[in-house]
Amino acid sequence: MNTQNRRFNVAVVGATGAVGETMLSILAERDFPVATLHALASERSAGGEVAFKDQQVQVQDLATFDPAGVDIALFSAGGGVSKEYAPKFAAAGAVVIDNSSAFRYDDDVPLVVSEVNPEQVANRPRGIIANPNCSTMQMLVALAPLHRAYGIERINVATYQSVSGGGRSAMEELGRQTGQLLNFQEIEPQRFPVQIAFNLIPHIDEFLDNGYTKEEMKLVWETRKILGDDAIQVNPTAVRVPVFYGHSEAVNIETKKKVTPAQARELLESAPGVVVVDAHEAGGYPTPVTHASGNDAVYVGRIREDFSHPHGLNLWIVSDNIRKGAALNAVQLAELVAQEG
Ligand code: A2P
Repeated sequence: MNTQNRRFNVAVVGATGAVGETMLSILAERDFPVATLHALASERSAGGEVAFKDQQVQVQDLATFDPAGVDIALFSAGGGVSKEYAPKFAAAGAVVIDNSSAFRYDDDVPLVVSEVNPEQVANRPRGIIANPNCSTMQMLVALAPLHRAYGIERINVATYQSVSGGGRSAMEELGRQTGQLLNFQEIEPQRFPVQIAFNLIPHIDEFLDNGYTKEEMKLVWETRKILGDDAIQVNPTAVRVPVFYGHSEAVNIETKKKVTPAQARELLESAPGVVVVDAHEAGGYPTPVTHASGNDAVYVGRIREDFSHPHGLNLWIVSDNIRKGAALNAVQLAELVAQEG
C-alpha cells in the first residue's frame, strides 16, 4: 500500500487472542507501514511474546501501558476492555478501531465495512471507528451491491457460526469435547451452555426481551446503520456450529425490483471482496473448510430464485469470521485512516 511513506505507531489490544493474533499477521501480510508495534493484553500474558513479521514482540500489560504516541489502536479484547480503554487511547491522540460491540450503535461512532461504506471512516468525532459483527460483515459485503441495484426490502438469514467467533477458549472447548466424546468420556460444557461437539446451538450472546438473541439483533441494527436504511427488515436466526473457522449464512432477500439469479451472479462477480462459487454440481459451492478458512474473500454460492416469492432470491454466503469478519476489516479500516495522510 502507498501511504506517502509515513509510518504509524500501532497498538493491538488483545494481541494474544484469536482475532488479535490474526490482526498481527494481516498487518504483516499487507505490509502495513508500522513504525512501532505494541502488543497489549492482560496482566496474565504480559511478559510473554507474540510473533510479528520475523520478530518476537513482548506483550505488555494494557492496564499500565501509556498510550501517548500511539497513532492507530486495534482493539479486540472484549466490550468491557474497549469501554474502559478505547476512550483513553482516543484522548491520547490515537484513532481506535474497535472490534467489540461497545460503540457500534452510538451515533457518533461510524460502523464501517471497507467495501460498503468506507467514506464513513472520516466521520469519527470521538476518534473511534467500530468494526461490525462478523456475521453482518460478510452478509453486507455480498448484499450491499444487490441493495444498491435492486433495493433490498427484507432479509431472512440463518447463520451457521464457527466456534472461533467465541475466541480461543471456545475453540479449545470444541477440540476437547470432540476428543473426549470419541474416547467415550463424559463431557462438561464450560464455554458453551450445552455440548458443542457433534451438535448445533441456536443461541449466541444473551437473550433479549423480544425472544431474539443479541447476536441476532446485531444483524438487524448493524445492517440498518451500515446501509443507512432504517426501513430494511431483517429476520435473523444465529446458530453456533462445530466448525473451527468460517461462518456460513443461508440468506433469502426480497427486493423492490426483481433480480434474477443470472443478474445477481453477474453483479457479484465484479463486487469488491466477493468471489462467486456457484456451479450446480458436487463441490460447486463454498464451504467454511474448502473456501473460507484462512482466506480473505466473501464466497457466494447457491444463488437461486426463491420460487415462493415473486421478488425473492436465495444465496449461501461463507467467509472466514476471524479474517474478513474481524481482523482483516479492522486492518482495511486502518489502511483507510493511513491513506488520509
Ligand atoms: P490475555 O491473553 O491476557 O487473556 P480471545 O477472544 O481469543 O479469548 O482473546 C481475548 C484477548 O483479549 C486476549 O488477548 C486477552 O488477553 C485479551 N484480554 C482479555 N481481558 C483483558 C483485559 N482485562 N485487559 C487486556 N486484555 C485483555
